[in-house]
Amino acid sequence: MEISKLDKLIKPSGTMAISNKARELKSQGKPVIGFGAGEPDFPSPEYVVEAAKEAIEDPKNHKYSPVAGLASLRNEIARTTLEYSGFEIDPNNILVSNGGKQAIITCMLAILNPSDEVIIPAPYWTTYPEAVKIAGGNPIFIQSTKEQDFKIDVDMLESVKTDKTKLLIWCSPSNPTGVVYSKEEADAIYQWVFDNNIWIMSDELYEHLVYEGENTPSPALIDKNLNNTLIINGVSKAYSMTGWRVGWLIANNEVMGLAKKIQSQATSNVSNVSQLAAESALKNGLDVTKEMKIAFDRRRNYAIKKLETIDNLSVVNGSGAFYLYVDVNFYCTGKFLNINSSEDFCNWLIENYFIAFVPGEVFGTNGFMRLSYALSDQELEEGLERLATAINDLNG
Ligand SMILES: Cc1ncc(COP(=O)(O)O)c(C=O)c1O
Repeated sequence: MEISKLDKLIKPSGTMAISNKARELKSQGKPVIGFGAGEPDFPSPEYVVEAAKEAIEDPKNHKYSPVAGLASLRNEIARTTLEYSGFEIDPNNILVSNGGKQAIITCMLAILNPSDEVIIPAPYWTTYPEAVKIAGGNPIFIQSTKEQDFKIDVDMLESVKTDKTKLLIWCSPSNPTGVVYSKEEADAIYQWVFDNNIWIMSDELYEHLVYEGENTPSPALIDKNLNNTLIINGVSKAYSMTGWRVGWLIANNEVMGLAKKIQSQATSNVSNVSQLAAESALKNGLDVTKEMKIAFDRRRNYAIKKLETIDNLSVVNGSGAFYLYVDVNFYCTGKFLNINSSEDFCNWLIENYFIAFVPGEVFGTNGFMRLSYALSDQELEEGLERLATAINDLNG
């Protein structure tokens, strides 16, 4: 029997593929060090766990609750959005979803019609093009370059714009490069979006993880009525809560109406226990985030310095999220063993040196690999030492 054409169109999550391989080798007793993690290596805060325990005990949390999310959580999201991102939002314009991921797919389903074009700057987070395709849209990629710090500009946007362009996907700080756009750079892009009357979906999951300079301002600071702006955020990264599955979409009334209808038919409310845990995270502020940031920044600096000492590898100075994007092009030309791509290179590293990186192909750019520094200092040092040894071995 025939199944959906989507089967030929979409790929499984590439970042998960490398985690699975690492897990398999680990289960065989290999000393695997994973640089693939898309999540902080810290436990969720103690008060979050306590709030969840309390929530479990309360019978009212054993029942369905409003599709859009508990009012108390949405109030807290509105409060923290104003405090941290600087824009005012009515709690009715917030939809709490199962992680930022569900918020993204719901957002796509709410915006796109068949064959609408969605501009995605590459390298991109692996879910974006697949979410666009699931919703029937066409991803249109802009290839940014290392020489431009993997940033796009208005000329690049202009070169791919057509009368079918519906949406720009925007993510700063970026997964996978860690690059953070300045206010001037972002404002120019926002202005182009508004002038051309297209949508912008701003993925702000990493807003609290910026180590140098200022964070990128949200487009919602300019587009106060959210005529063109859709915001994605959540507790996964900033509060080390990836497993709790709480994220949200912020949008205008019209989008919100449809997004709620979609979620009401797909999943209904997010688990009440997780929502109350997320509420506790937001209420307790950013002290835990600041502690994580200190560790991440220390590791980021260590990794950048170490990579600089390894022959023919280089890296853009990513100042946000917890990723560095490493240029491994030199070793991907077929001159070394049979390595013809960053995928070959990453496979060779994990199979021979038990260090797991995510190859650039997953993010739309061959010749690079993503290094997550969300791992312990000892593992980071040991893993990078192995990388240096691997490169030495390659160079003979
Ligand atoms: C850029 C970006 N957006 C959204 C998400 C989704 O996060 P979650 O679904 O865990 O909230 C991730 C997770 O890796 C991400 O890196």
